[in-house]
Amino acid sequence: MIVLGIETSCDETAVALVKDGTEILASMVSTQLDLHRPFGGVVPEIASRAHLETLIPLLREMLENAGVKREEVDAIAFTRGPGLIGALLVGVSLGKALAYAWGVPPIGVNHLKAHLYAPCLEGNILKFPLVGLIVSGGHTLLVEADSWDSARILGGTRDDAAGEAFDKVASLLGLGFPGGPAVERAARDGDPGRFQLPRPMLKSGDYDFSFSGVKTAVRYLVERIEREGQPVPTADIAAGFQAAAVEVLVAKLKCAAESFRARTVVLGGGVVRNGELRRRVQEAFASPEQELLISSPDLCSDNAAMIAGLGCRILEEGGGGEWGADADPNLGWGVGLF
Ligand code: KG4
Ligand code: ZN
Repeated sequence: MIVLGIETSCDETAVALVKDGTEILASMVSTQLDLHRPFGGVVPEIASRAHLETLIPLLREMLENAGVKREEVDAIAFTRGPGLIGALLVGVSLGKALAYAWGVPPIGVNHLKAHLYAPCLEGNILKFPLVGLIVSGGHTLLVEADSWDSARILGGTRDDAAGEAFDKVASLLGLGFPGGPAVERAARDGDPGRFQLPRPMLKSGDYDFSFSGVKTAVRYLVERIEREGQPVPTADIAAGFQAAAVEVLVAKLKCAAESFRARTVVLGGGVVRNGELRRRVQEAFASPEQELLISSPDLCSDNAAMIAGLGCRILEEGGGGEWGADADPNLGWGVGLF
């Protein structure tokens, strides 16, 4: 079974072909970073226009290179949400139009659930009970699942998402956009212990997060140093912030994994590209009882292979074919991992 995937929820235009839910036949991502960089963040209107211009040529190129004919495609999966409405509409519209023209079912996929599916594209199997952490530019979510059919949200951020906090701290430090990789680069030369930044909600006893406090602490610190006429020690502050954010993420994930006796612990989302987070989480889950699944960096950030892969799984379960399923910028978690 071959599923074509389309991803346009934010600032990456992506297409992929996945066989049997596990084998990536082709995957292409066209990033819009250069278009948004002058504005210091993703501009929704620019994102939708860029998807519109890029999506069809990208799809043509992928199909030609992969040597896959349209008759071989069994379904079209596309991100329904959550995401930017204008951006989502481009992918949903093309996905449904193609499905109609090619006579195959359309499959609307939840972008966040697809982030948790990504490790399955690298030979991994999700075993239950499972605990998942999704950390991206728009979301920070802890999830627990007993089976594919039952997954519930344990907690999430009360304010900024983790990636958003990285992006805002990068902007406060003048490190540019996108902020996550810039903070990580700067932090390499920094001393994470020089400035003790807060670890919000570390001991809150629940699975919620808050990142705006640590971001504000960075702001006050930078303002104080500037008032004193000193040069801002960018590397040390970046390292201090990264250490604080990573510590809270890993601590809550560990706590959830223990409480729910998770057999697999899955991480997904763009922030999982972060080397310090990957290292810390690997240290925290070194014991063989809990299998840690972290995708390779390119499968952590937005891509269409995870959409096509989860689409395959949905089709196998008898789903798909919902022509009325529209783009939904606030698409909720619903039930299960599908
Ligand atoms: O999942 P993703 O690609 O897109 C969304 O669905 O949001 O995540 C993008 C987020 C951005 O906030 C970006 O700054 C962050 O992931 N990010 C990182 C790193 N690479 C990307 N954050 C920390 N360290 C990184 N190396
Ligand atoms: Zn994402």
